[in-house]
Amino acid sequence: MKIVPYDLLKNVLFNFDPELVHDFSIKLAGRYSAIASLMSSVTIDKLKYGINVGSCNWHFPVGLAAGMDKDCQAVEFFSRVGFGAIEVGTVTPLPQLGNDKPRLFRYKDENSIRNKMGFNNRGSEELLKNLLAVKKIVDVPVGVNFGKNKLTSQKDAIKDYLKLFDLFQNDADYVVMNFSSPNTPGLRDLQQIDRMRENFQEIRKQHSASTFRRDIYVKISPDLALADVSEIVKLVKEFSFTGLIATNTTIMPERGEGGISGELLKKKSETVRFHILDELRECPELQLIGVGGVSTFDDVWRFWKRGGKAVQVLTSLIFNGPSLLSQIQNEIDVVLKLNLVATVGELLQNIAQAKKHE
Ligand SMILES: Cc1cc2nc3c(=O)[nH]c(=O)nc-3n(C[C@H](O)[C@H](O)[C@H](O)COP(=O)(O)O)c2cc1C
Repeated sequence: MKIVPYDLLKNVLFNFDPELVHDFSIKLAGRYSAIASLMSSVTIDKLKYGINVGSCNWHFPVGLAAGMDKDCQAVEFFSRVGFGAIEVGTVTPLPQLGNDKPRLFRYKDENSIRNKMGFNNRGSEELLKNLLAVKKIVDVPVGVNFGKNKLTSQKDAIKDYLKLFDLFQNDADYVVMNFSSPNTPGLRDLQQIDRMRENFQEIRKQHSASTFRRDIYVKISPDLALADVSEIVKLVKEFSFTGLIATNTTIMPERGEGGISGELLKKKSETVRFHILDELRECPELQLIGVGGVSTFDDVWRFWKRGGKAVQVLTSLIFNGPSLLSQIQNEIDVVLKLNLVATVGELLQNIAQAKKHE
């Protein structure tokens, strides 16, 4: 049942400062998660729509991307809205304010956003507390996205990630090493292959593949050369991580500082995703979570046809509201019927079989 029309709400909210609206919405959603049922008409049915992504069972193939609920305040709301998995963070070991405001900008006509937030968050201890509380209530997978504090030197960056690994190893359903935000000086340098190898070695020294019981992803930038993306895929495989999340926001210096998301990112992000999916044909055990400009079922379908499974959204949720999910669900229902299968899992298996014979 959908009672609150998002379009009306958006007409009001979009008159205000984007960050103010964001903070207000998260606070409200955190306090009154039951509002979700007034805003969403998604049918939650894990058997029909659930998919296995690494060792997690996503309840629906569309999850919430990192950055929306940085401090894990509104997971129950987002799970009631119908997201299949929810990624919180980016969290840094210590709380930090992030960059100066204003730092969030809408491009209404282009369904896009530019942000230069700079990992504003309440720190790892607060996030852990919130995560433990919400895990008692929801059974949706919750991933935690890790970053480094701005004041941590480049040399010590990996120590921040290691601290976060230690802290969240028992309670996050999956963890994400975010080396790809354009808003923390030097962070993207951690994607250089040699640096990445050294850092992955450190992580494996502290947490071998068998002792770290959680899925581990690496989130990458859409601004990497495809040859470098291939090298990262090889490294992720070599170190037996679970997979990649592609992509983070893109830089468009002509628009100003920060990272761009939404429609303006879609093409670049999709190019990287499709490149990774082609590479993964050789190593099907690796997962790819697709994110960047996903806004319709067609985007999901193109990803599935190339061999992908799970996607995430953020910007399209801001522009379309929760009905984004019910629209995708309605179109999934049609495709399931047309293909004479009962579940998304079966559908994806059939696509994978057909691809093997291509
Ligand atoms: C306001 C905002 C904040 C974000 N914060 C983070 C973050 O903290 N960590 C992260 O990994 N990605 C962050 N992202 C990137 C998103 O997770 C996602 O990768 C990107 O926006 C592309 O997806 P979209 O086009 O669906 O928004 C942020 C994006 C936006 C718009």
